[in-house]
Parts: sequence; C-alpha cells; structure tokens
Amino acid sequence: MIKIAFVVSEAVPFAKTGGLADVAGTLPRVLEKLGCEVKLFIPKYYSIDEIKFNLKYNWKIGEIPIKVAGHIRSVHILQSKLPDSNVEVNFVDCPHYFNRALLYTNDFDEDERFILFSKGVIEALQRLNWAPNVIHCNDWQTGLIPLLLKDNYSWDKFFKKTHTIFTIHNIGYQGKFAKDALAKADIDERYFYPTGPIEFYNDVSFMKAGISFADIITTVSPTYANEILTREYGAGMENILIQRKESLFGIINGVDYSTWDPETDVQIPFNYSVNSLEEKIKNKKYLLQQFDMPFKKEIPLIGIVSRIVEQKGFDVFAEAINDLIKLSAQWIILGSGEEKFEDLIRWLVKSYPDKFGAYIMFSDILSHLVEAGSDMFLMPSRYEPCGLNQIYSLKYGSVPIVRNTGGLADTVRNWHDGKSKNDASSTGFSFNEYSSSALLETVRRAIKTFEDKITWGKIQSNGMKENFSWDSSAKEYINLYNLVAQKGN
Ligand code: ADP
Ligand code: GLC
Repeated sequence: MIKIAFVVSEAVPFAKTGGLADVAGTLPRVLEKLGCEVKLFIPKYYSIDEIKFNLKYNWKIGEIPIKVAGHIRSVHILQSKLPDSNVEVNFVDCPHYFNRALLYTNDFDEDERFILFSKGVIEALQRLNWAPNVIHCNDWQTGLIPLLLKDNYSWDKFFKKTHTIFTIHNIGYQGKFAKDALAKADIDERYFYPTGPIEFYNDVSFMKAGISFADIITTVSPTYANEILTREYGAGMENILIQRKESLFGIINGVDYSTWDPETDVQIPFNYSVNSLEEKIKNKKYLLQQFDMPFKKEIPLIGIVSRIVEQKGFDVFAEAINDLIKLSAQWIILGSGEEKFEDLIRWLVKSYPDKFGAYIMFSDILSHLVEAGSDMFLMPSRYEPCGLNQIYSLKYGSVPIVRNTGGLADTVRNWHDGKSKNDASSTGFSFNEYSSSALLETVRRAIKTFEDKITWGKIQSNGMKENFSWDSSAKEYINLYNLVAQKGN
C-alpha cells in the first residue's frame, strides 16, 4: 500500500483561509478510499479547538527538540482523524510560533514558523517510524521539505525510499525572506547564488526551493500549468519552471460534494436540485432579507465570495464600478482583504443599499448561502490556479461569469449568444482580456441572457449536471505517486 504524507499549512475543518484548505481536507480522504495510506500534517494553530476536534498528545513521541534560528524549540505532535475517514491528522505544535491571532502573519519570524513546521514534520515521521513513499508538499510553507530531505536529512537511510511532490496552489505567494533564513534553517549556503535553486532576486524563496528540489511539481489545473511557464503568469518563477518542465503536471482540483451540493447542504435553509429550482429562489429571498435588500425575482442577484485582492480581479471591478452600478442587478459580496477594495465595497453598500449588500469578514455559512441564493457568480480573476467557487457555483445553479484563465478556463464553458455549435453545452460566461470593458460587457451579456428564461435554464442546468468530484483527479495524483515511487535515489 502506497504511503503518503500530505503536508499543508491549512485544512478543512481545522483551519481555513482559502481553497487550499478545501483541497487538503478532502483529497487525503479520497486517496485513502482509493487504497493509499495517508497521514496529514498541519501546524497546530491557536485557533484550532483541541476539545472540539479531540486532539490527543502523542506520548510515544513526546517533546521533540528542533533547532530554528539558533534556538532549540520544543515541539510535540497532537493527533486526531480527518472526519469520515481513517486519515490520521498530525498537528505540529509549538506554541511559541503558532499561538498567534492569524494563520499567516507579517511578523519578523514568519520564515522561522514554517522552517519549524517543515523540520517538525520530518522529525515526527522519524519518531512515528513511518517512512512514506511520497511526501506531498503544498505551497511555499512546505517548500523547504524537499531540500531538507535531500541534504540536511540525507544521512537518515530511513528516508531512502521517500520522494517528494510539490504542488503549487498559487505562484503569487512565494515565501520570500532575507538571506538569513538559510542560517535559521541550517541550510547550506552553497545553494544560494544568483539564479540558483533557492535564490530569488537576492532573497531566499521557499517556493523556489520546493520547485527546485521536489521530484515532481504539480499545479492545480492544466491551463495554469502552461500559463506559469510564461512571463505574464510565472511571477518570476517561469525560468526555473521551464528548466523543470518535464516534471511539471497540471491536475484540476476536485470539490467535496458532501459539503457543497444544494440537495444536501446543511448550511442553507432550502435544499434544491436541478428539478426544484423554485426552492433556489427561496434561498435568494432569504439571502436578500439578511441584507435588508428588496427581493425582485426578475432582477438578477450577482454573488461574489472571494479574498478581496488584486488576483481576484478587484482592480478591474473597481474600474468598471460606475457602469456596473447602472446595470439592472443586485449584488452580494462576501470577503475580506485589501483595504482600498474593502472601502469601495463599504461605500457601495452605503450609497446603494438596495443594490449592494456585503459582509466583509470570513463566514463559512454565508459562503454557502451566497452560492445558493445568487443567480450569477462573478469571478473576474487576473489569474486563477484553479478556483473552487466557480465549481461550487456550477453545482448551485449560480451561473459563473469568469475570466478565461487558469482553472476558470478549464471548468466554465462560455455561452456565445447561440452563435457557436458548442453553445448547447455552455455552463457560463467568460471573457479573455483582463480589462474593465471586457468585464462590463460580459456582465451585461449575462444580464441580457437572464431575460431569456429558456436559454438561462439550459445554461444553469448544464452547470448543475457537471461533475468535478475528486475521484478522477485523485487517481491522477496516485499515478504520479507511483511514478515517483519507482524512481531510484
Ligand atoms: P483562493 O483559494 O484563491 O482564495 P478558491 O476559489 O480556490 O480561491 O477558494 C476559496 C475558498 O475560500 C472557497 O471555499 C470559498 O468559499 C472560501 N472563502 C473565500 N472567502 C471567504 C469568506 N469571506 N468567507 C467564507 N469563505 C470564504
Ligand atoms: C489557491 C488558488 C486557487 C486554488 C486553491 C486550491 O488558493 O488561488 O485558485 O483553487 O489554491 O488549490
């Protein structure tokens, strides 16, 4: 049975800031069902409720001394299970680093936090006496693991058959730190030279380390895998990625339909399916009520659930706003992020209370309700490695309006106003150019199409019938695990 250590900085239901947590809380469970032995490793953040999740101190392991930045820190492992599975979850606990208000910080020792996590995972594996075939690392927070394993821990024959996969969920977050991060991690300075495997514009990048040293690199959609090889989307990593092109794969994320299906969703007031869309309208009414907004069946409600940052297209949204206000539509926005965009949204709600509603916070329950209650869902991303919300939107009959990039391009099929022979299978609206005019034109197109109930119903039901469950993508990961496990050292 192939053994996989899945290492990640957030996972549902324990800790979440974005889609990474959705992936990490589901994929390990599906891998296990498909016959892998999986252990999940995440940091024990302060916000993770030890009682609710029944976390147990592992006494066999006890306290592990780990050196970071010249200090020995005491680390221990708390254990639990991923719900509805036998996947063992190992929480790497070191209060000095993880008892902070947020998962990610701008504190001076952010590098140290994830150096400790990375070393903690390796040392815990040794003490669990469990040598995985593959350590599956995710994003920059785990990027040092492939390097540590190949160098600092190469003395340990226990890891002789252990290989690494590094999955890029977002190339925009690169784990860039001053050069002294190397000394803090006890990493050999010989790796640090211009254009070398960990050097990035005079700094150290943990993400680049992952890309350079992992046996295989993946990203979360086929289109994004091609895009990050270009200057426009590579965010400076395109050259190292081109060097490793033969080992780079794009696998589309799946979603967890046991949580995200309007027929069974426990977080929405009215369950519905493609055959009972009148129940969906009740959710719309309920959602609008929560924001003291008038309900008008014929006026489309456009939902947004997003981190409010430039990546997600908020600069073109802001540019288009004077025209968007004039459209015959209502808007509900859930999300938080950059202040200038949050301020714009607050201003919209204050100035046009019947048209705009917003909750500038993180709310899991409301994210489900927005999916259920909206007629359309807007996601005009500048770039999008995969994107999960548009996939949820398809299932909820909340027709996605997206920019044609990354995972959005791989999951939404544009309606061409009936002019294309492919239109019979359209699931949404998309545009190519990253501009306010393209965004505006496409939202207009969607609103116009909404008037034609037959066409709209067809686009909506096409989307609701799509299936992005994890099974086939998890099998693609297993193929890669087998491929890499066969590799010698
Ligand atoms: P990303 O990971 O880049 O933020 P994804 O579309 O992959 O984008 O995933 C976002 C996830 O985070 C979704 O599950 C979405 O519902 C959730 N989410 C984003 N913002 C909020 C919020 N303010 N409140 C609740 N959930 C949110
Ligand atoms: C990142 C990406 C998003 C992707 C998610 C899970 O946060 O921005 O597109 O869906 O990771 O892979």
